[in-house]
Amino acid sequence: MQLKIHFNNYYQSLYLMEPISTPPIKKLTPQELAVMNTSNDALLTKVYSASLGYFKDDYSHYFLKAKKKMLPIINRGTWARVQAVRQIVTRFIKAFPGNAQIVSLGAGYDTTYFWIKDQIKEGVYGEGAVKYVEVDYQQVVEKKIEIILKNEALWKHLWTTQEDIDDHKPEKSELNLPDYKLFSLDITDTSSLAAKLSSLSVDPAAPTLILSECVLIYLPPDAITSILSFLSSHFTSDLAIMCYEMINPHDAFGRMMLENLEDRGCKLQGIHACPSEGAQIARLKEHAGMTMAECYNMSVVYGRKLDAAERARIEKLEIFDEYEEWDLLSSHYCVSLGRRFVKDEDNQKVCI
Ligand SMILES: C[S@@+](CC[C@H](N)C(=O)[O-])C[C@H]1O[C@@H](n2cnc3c(N)ncnc32)[C@H](O)[C@@H]1O
Repeated sequence: MQLKIHFNNYYQSLYLMEPISTPPIKKLTPQELAVMNTSNDALLTKVYSASLGYFKDDYSHYFLKAKKKMLPIINRGTWARVQAVRQIVTRFIKAFPGNAQIVSLGAGYDTTYFWIKDQIKEGVYGEGAVKYVEVDYQQVVEKKIEIILKNEALWKHLWTTQEDIDDHKPEKSELNLPDYKLFSLDITDTSSLAAKLSSLSVDPAAPTLILSECVLIYLPPDAITSILSFLSSHFTSDLAIMCYEMINPHDAFGRMMLENLEDRGCKLQGIHACPSEGAQIARLKEHAGMTMAECYNMSVVYGRKLDAAERARIEKLEIFDEYEEWDLLSSHYCVSLGRRFVKDEDNQKVCI
């Protein structure tokens, strides 16, 4: 009962958010539109937990109209999600210094690229350590570009001065800089995706990490299969694929999670074909040609895979007594990571 209230509070607070108002360019289905608006949910949770000190994020707030209070259990989950992704990103860049490439599918308003630029400034990796590529629906991409161009804190990572921006005349729905590419496309259209990646000089032979944070799960199973097999054949050398998404749809909590999302028009079309950690691993091996794959639910990731000192620090940030709910919630999300590396030793360097 308590949990249902938490869930409803969480989703109600999201309902109150202003939906993206840009009229659809390509006519999206109601499901696609609802999924597109989940980019706001991710943003909202990240901005709020960052504001409480869970992790450093100086950039997400530029994309959000109004901050909303989130429950401690959501903040803890957001911390685990962000830390897990950052840990994999950092390990990947360090394993392939100088020629790492990261492709974020359904990137939404995620600001990992800007966080990486700060890491470079702090000397964690060298200048030009990574080429970062983001793709999403046109409505999201146009809004993201508009906000980047309006805020110096963001555009200074891409251009030096305002005159510099004027000289480069960035497009409304595409950015193409040496180390940052942002473009709009439906990722289920894999032949257009191949063409676009080539036209933006995204090197198919460079070591590449694919990020899919709450994206594939919304697509039908056959679309997921064709995206994974496309990635496996398009990128010809070292390849890693990370997914963060929901699992365990069959128990009471899982059914409630699906129901809540379906009420918002977001059907988790992919969850029944990939309902567990084991199925995530099998999918990465069978459909994406990964030679190695691991997957853990977020309860395991939180307790065993992230930095213990950081975990101890964030546990002091808010009063927390939702232990049972936390176990339930975190065991219904997972991180999976598949790898197909040329050198076996890289499997030890890039892991969850
Ligand atoms: C839950 S949001 C996650 C955003 C981002 N990955 C994050 O974690 O902050 C899902 C994103 O995937 C995008 N998306 C879903 N299906 C897509 C598709 N077929 N093509 C392009 N983008 C898609 C949505 O527009 C949305 O921005």
